[in-house]
Amino acid sequence: MTLWQGRFGNSNQSAELFAFTESLSFDKRLAPDDIACSRAHVRGLGRAGLLSQDEVGALLAALSQVEQELAEGSFTFQPGDEDVHTAVERRVTEIAGEVGGRLHTGRSRNDQVATDIRLFTKRALGEVARGIIGLQQVLLDRAEEAGDAYLPGYTHMQRAQPVLLAHHLLAHGWALARDIDRLAATRRRLDVSPLGAGALAGSSLPLDPDWVARELGFAGRFDNSLDAVSDRDFVAEALFDLALLGTHLSRLGEEIVLWSTEEFGFLHLDDAYATGSSMLPQKKNADIAELARGKAGRLIGHLTGLLTTLKGLPLAYNRDLQEDKEPLFDAMDQVQRSLDALSGLMATATFDTEAMASAADAHTSAATDLAEWLVRKGMPFRQAHGLVGAVVRDSLQRRVPLPELVAAHPSLGAEAVHLLEAGVSVTRRTTPGGAGPGPVTEQLRSFAAVLRSDAERFGLEYPAAAAG
Ligand code: ARG
Repeated sequence: MTLWQGRFGNSNQSAELFAFTESLSFDKRLAPDDIACSRAHVRGLGRAGLLSQDEVGALLAALSQVEQELAEGSFTFQPGDEDVHTAVERRVTEIAGEVGGRLHTGRSRNDQVATDIRLFTKRALGEVARGIIGLQQVLLDRAEEAGDAYLPGYTHMQRAQPVLLAHHLLAHGWALARDIDRLAATRRRLDVSPLGAGALAGSSLPLDPDWVARELGFAGRFDNSLDAVSDRDFVAEALFDLALLGTHLSRLGEEIVLWSTEEFGFLHLDDAYATGSSMLPQKKNADIAELARGKAGRLIGHLTGLLTTLKGLPLAYNRDLQEDKEPLFDAMDQVQRSLDALSGLMATATFDTEAMASAADAHTSAATDLAEWLVRKGMPFRQAHGLVGAVVRDSLQRRVPLPELVAAHPSLGAEAVHLLEAGVSVTRRTTPGGAGPGPVTEQLRSFAAVLRSDAERFGLEYPAAAAG
């Protein structure tokens, strides 16, 4: 039995139509939000005098029973349930009897589904924020315990200048902080109730959209009913936020893959977060990191898919909009799993700080320090750059160790040789936000403060209570 049987008499819909247009298989996930939406709507109808207090009571009791059946898993979806809204209304009517026929007064599935999905997205963004902060906390903990450990910083994948390991880890952390900020902005914009917009134009009944908006915990109600039922900007925005977050996780994943190669050897995965090969007995693979990288493609696909769906739609509701849900649900799920898996991987991995230091201690890594030392002596930087470049070239061509040439050079000498000693270079990055111990100590503090205030923005406990 459909919700629109009247217009169609006794004719039955075709199996193909049902199979192609149903959304229950994925929108069942909105059931808790659909029930919340119906509760607010029923109370609103009571306030408007469209339902008696007894009717309100009967419908609320039926909704609670449906909620319980869903939670217990005893709710049975019927073959004819086209979507979650149909299923809930059908069951409410089975439980409450005739009064169930009044539930949909002044409401359309168009404003209902828009309300449900906003409620869902608002909550899900909070869960993603929790996952991000969890990973950021791991990065912070690892950065704090990394102390003075350093590794080569790279540009063009060539060793450039040494950086503290803590600095490198926090670089990923700050990108994630911007992701949180975007989630907060998206959440603020989507915090609008569409309920009361009806199918597209509002209602002749004395509904109070402001009241139901407050009842549902939204910051306000829609301004335009056509916009309210057709707007999926918030889904696109959420998908963008998740795609960019996924891109950041992909970059982290890529570095984990690189660092755990024998060639780099900077990082060793804990067995619990590594995988083996079915054929090659010696293998230990970073599949989590690779999938974190691979999922970014899927997340970007969800964003471009939805934008493409939206771009040609005239006002107001069109069934195309049903295509918003699967990408949204999948993006939320994939990102959440990536965050959890990467958090575990990063929390348990071992850093080989000796391998990092020996890669960073190549004498040429301090070339910029030599040039800056000459600048302090008064030499123009361009000239200093040329001088040091020539000494490096000479060292490589004649295979003479750089310190020897530096010691013998009339403009450099013994004092400059000290700059080439292991571990010295990174200590010379002293400017704010730089890679040396001074600015990094400051950065650890400011990063922790950002985590605390972001947790607060999303109403999360910080630091999170220990799991288990
Ligand atoms: N399953 C539909 C969706 O997700 C619900 C709204 C249906 N509205 C309609 N006019 N057929 O978009």
